Amino acid sequence: MSAPEGSPNPHPRMYGDLARWWPLISPVEVYEGDAHTAAGLFAAAEGPVRTVLELGSGGGHTAFHLRSRYTMTLVDLSGEMLDVSRALNPGVEHLLGDMRDLRLGRSFDAVLVHDAIDYMTTEEELAAAFRTTYRHCRPGGVAVFFPDHLRETYEPSTEWGGEDAADGSGVRYLEWGLPAEPDGHTVRTEYTFTLREADGTVRTAHETHVTGLFTAAVWTRLLGEAGFEVSTATESGGDGEPTRTMFVGHRPTE
Ligand SMILES: C[S@@+](CC[C@H](N)C(=O)[O-])C[C@H]1O[C@@H](n2cnc3c(N)ncnc32)[C@H](O)[C@@H]1O
Repeated sequence: MSAPEGSPNPHPRMYGDLARWWPLISPVEVYEGDAHTAAGLFAAAEGPVRTVLELGSGGGHTAFHLRSRYTMTLVDLSGEMLDVSRALNPGVEHLLGDMRDLRLGRSFDAVLVHDAIDYMTTEEELAAAFRTTYRHCRPGGVAVFFPDHLRETYEPSTEWGGEDAADGSGVRYLEWGLPAEPDGHTVRTEYTFTLREADGTVRTAHETHVTGLFTAAVWTRLLGEAGFEVSTATESGGDGEPTRTMFVGHRPTE
C-alpha cells in the first residue's frame, strides 16, 4: 500500500503483508447489514442506480453483498487488499487508486465510501475525498459515507475477535481504541494480532492506526463545499453502542 510522505499511516500492515488474513479478521458476513443500509440510501438518487463506485473497498466484503444488484467498480490504495477482493469478487472491476486524487474520467449512479473514510485524518484530506466522490457521481446521483465515529459520539473502546480457516490457520486480534488525541481530530487504535499458520507456527504483530474524527458540522460543511446537498441517516448501535450516522451527498442535476 502506498501513502504520501508524512502520512500518519505510512504502510498499514493490516492492508499490506497481513492482508491475506483479512477474511479471518473481519469476516464477510459482518458487512451484510451495512451493505443493505447502503442499498437503501442509494435509493435517494434521482433515477435508477445501476453503477456503483466504491472507494477504499478493501477486501471487498461490503461489495460482496452488493455485486449481484449493481455493476461495481472497486478502488483501493492497497494492491494486497485488491487481491483479496478479486478472489472473493471475481469478474468485478478492481482498480488501484487513492480516494484523495483518483480521477477515472467517468461517473457512476452512486459512490460508496464505507469505513475507509476513517483514514482521512485532516479536514484537507476529507475535503479531497469529497471532491473525488463528487467528480465520480453523476448529476442526480448520490454518495454514501459510513464513518465509524463522529467527534461528538466517539468513545474509547476495546474489541477482540478473529476466526479459524478450514486449513487450520487462524487469527485472534485485540483492537484498543484510545481516547481522542489532543489535536481533537484524530484517534489512535492499537492492533495486536496473533496469527497461526496451517502448520501450527504462531507469530504476533502489532501496529498503530491513526484515523480521523470530525464533527457532524464539519462533515456537512465540507460535503457542501464539494457541491453536494447533504442529508444524514442514523442507526441505533444497540448494546450500549453510540448511534451511528451515515452521510448522504446528493449531486444536484445541472
Ligand atoms: C477497513 S478497510 C475496508 C474494508 C472494506 N469495507 C471491506 O468491505 O472489506 C480500509 C481500506 O481503506 C483503504 N484506504 C485507506 N486509505 C485510502 C485511500 N486514501 N484511498 C483508497 N483506499 C484507502 C485501505 O487500503 C483499506 O483497504
